[in-house]
Amino acid sequence: MKNKAQFSRRGFLKTTGGVLSLFAAVSHVPLAIADTVEGGPPPGKRDPAQLKRLLDEMDAKGYQFWSVPRKDGEFLRLLLKATRARNVLELGTSHGFSAIWMGLGLEETGGRLTTIEIDKERYDLARKHVSEAGLSQRVTFIRGDAHVEVARIEGPFDFVFMDADKEGQMDYFKKLYPKKLVPGGILLVHNAIRQANSMKDYLEMIRKHPDFDTVTLSVTMDDGFCLSYRLRIS
Ligand SMILES: C[S@@+](CC[C@H](N)C(=O)[O-])C[C@H]1O[C@@H](n2cnc3c(N)ncnc32)[C@H](O)[C@@H]1O
Repeated sequence: MKNKAQFSRRGFLKTTGGVLSLFAAVSHVPLAIADTVEGGPPPGKRDPAQLKRLLDEMDAKGYQFWSVPRKDGEFLRLLLKATRARNVLELGTSHGFSAIWMGLGLEETGGRLTTIEIDKERYDLARKHVSEAGLSQRVTFIRGDAHVEVARIEGPFDFVFMDADKEGQMDYFKKLYPKKLVPGGILLVHNAIRQANSMKDYLEMIRKHPDFDTVTLSVTMDDGFCLSYRLRIS
């Protein structure tokens, strides 16, 4: 069973090649919660129309809060389900848009998200939004500097979404790897195309790191992600 799961995840990454465009793959995923949950808190009850309204409102203000585009949010939800992620860390909560998409994915896997934000106003707003989405039981919020908090946090995590200060990726990596990212775990960095210059050192390092398989991909055909899989055997 373990080998099968391992093969599936590696197979997915191996077949994706170097630069991907997944624009079609995630556009029609329904908001409904699947009935299969693998432990953890039970899925919350929510009105799909109310959730859609909330996500629409947040999406409309996305530029103001630097949140991921909706299609990237849908991709995050899909990826958490596909990798069966259970213990997820996000750096850079902002107003909670990506946290909600990830929380929805975790409803299926039974997992939990810890998310870190430095700004008090955005931290408060994210808590409110996640509560309105009926996902408070899935999400732990930490207010603080992620460079300090990541050094403190216990882990280990099986999925880390790095979306705070772009220049900080290398420092985050050093604080996460190897102890706080499990073998078979995922490191996902946003803005890896448009802001590649700000994280040049990290991108160059991770692309040739012998313990990771790494691809750059775009769902929106605009900006995109750097997705790295920590090998179980290296
Ligand atoms: C790109 S936004 C995050 C967007 C969010 N992930 C989403 O898609 O909804 C970056 C956020 O990281 C926060 N941030 C920047 N530096 C940080 C740090 N050192 N520690 C924690 N948060 C930080 C900013 O305040 C901002 O809200």
